[in-house]
Amino acid sequence: MSQFAKNFSLKHLNTFGFDVYARYFAQPKSLEELLQIVNNEIFNNNERLVMGGGSNLLFTKDFEGCLVQPLIAGIEKTAETSEHVFVRAGAGVEWDSLVEHCVANEYYGLENLSLIPGNVGASPVQNIGAYGVEAKDSIYSVEFLNLENKTLETYGNAQCEFGYRDSIFKRAMKGKVIITHVTYQLSKTASFNTCYGNINEELKNFTEVNLRNLRQAVTNIRQSKLPDPKEAGNAGSFFKNPVVATAKADELQAQHPTMPRYNSNEGSKIPAGWLVEQCGFKGIRRGNVGVHPKQALVLVNYGGGTGEQVLQLTHEIIATVKNKFGIELEMEVNVV
Ligand code: EPU
Repeated sequence: MSQFAKNFSLKHLNTFGFDVYARYFAQPKSLEELLQIVNNEIFNNNERLVMGGGSNLLFTKDFEGCLVQPLIAGIEKTAETSEHVFVRAGAGVEWDSLVEHCVANEYYGLENLSLIPGNVGASPVQNIGAYGVEAKDSIYSVEFLNLENKTLETYGNAQCEFGYRDSIFKRAMKGKVIITHVTYQLSKTASFNTCYGNINEELKNFTEVNLRNLRQAVTNIRQSKLPDPKEAGNAGSFFKNPVVATAKADELQAQHPTMPRYNSNEGSKIPAGWLVEQCGFKGIRRGNVGVHPKQALVLVNYGGGTGEQVLQLTHEIIATVKNKFGIELEMEVNVV
């Protein structure tokens, strides 16, 4: 495509499948193309937004500015020690192909993050996580284009200020950078993280625990619980799991003895899916949108729904959970 497409349909570029348009849209495939875009007046004179794979966005209307989806490709091994390999991937690499690449080469670290939708460039922004592992555990460095001075910079892991589904790229650096590459530090020796939830249970279906089987086990669990966006539009977890003070969690637990919780130094994490389910929303439908029947943390577009309808349902859920439990749910997806 020429540098910018005009009035570009995003229906196939957001996993909710909303029928919305971007006034200007660009998919730079290299650093050179990206630099041309950020130096173009269309980019500089309009509201702008950078997207990854479109799996964490809720479009409530057309985007009247300039939307950029970096599609920089490539996976390469950049360094190796006796214990580790360093793998650098372009922001546009599909996340799960990176995981597959690592599993195929016997690099340990990303396998629990199998089948997460989205692209490499979003992995540090959201600090994507699943089954006891977060991207931050493997991210060595993040390369980005600083939009203020149009220079390329690299942040090491500590500079990224990672937290649960959080990083500096969602806070101080929001809207100020475009991530171009991410380097992951992976282990050459076998070590598996199988503590979370029903991973061990699922692994009993395999003859041995190895990298390939763990990837498959995670894939099986995800497929059994989370809707495939090709069948029902969704953005994975819609809310973050709230972290509350331990005293608050104790109080709730006294009233709800079966309440699941995960304790940490910051307090107790309570599964938002449980809170939403307790409020009676699991499986409900409001026209063409609703709450998934197998995982109450996932809001779904059954076809023909709009972002505005999902947002209305979101407000209803947040208010009900607040009223019943005194906890304010926070959205994980970005509303546009
Ligand atoms: N639960 C319910 N009802 C539900 C859903 C969950 O009671 O409808 C309870 C479960 O019984 C379980 C607990 O909540 O005790 C945790 O459920 P689950 O293992 O399904 O995980 P989650 O906390 O709901 C998080 C991530 C997921 C990730 C899974 C597995 C967040 C916001 N979500 O979900 O991430 O796949 O753990 O590690 O942290 C995503 O970010 O898009 C995503 C899917």
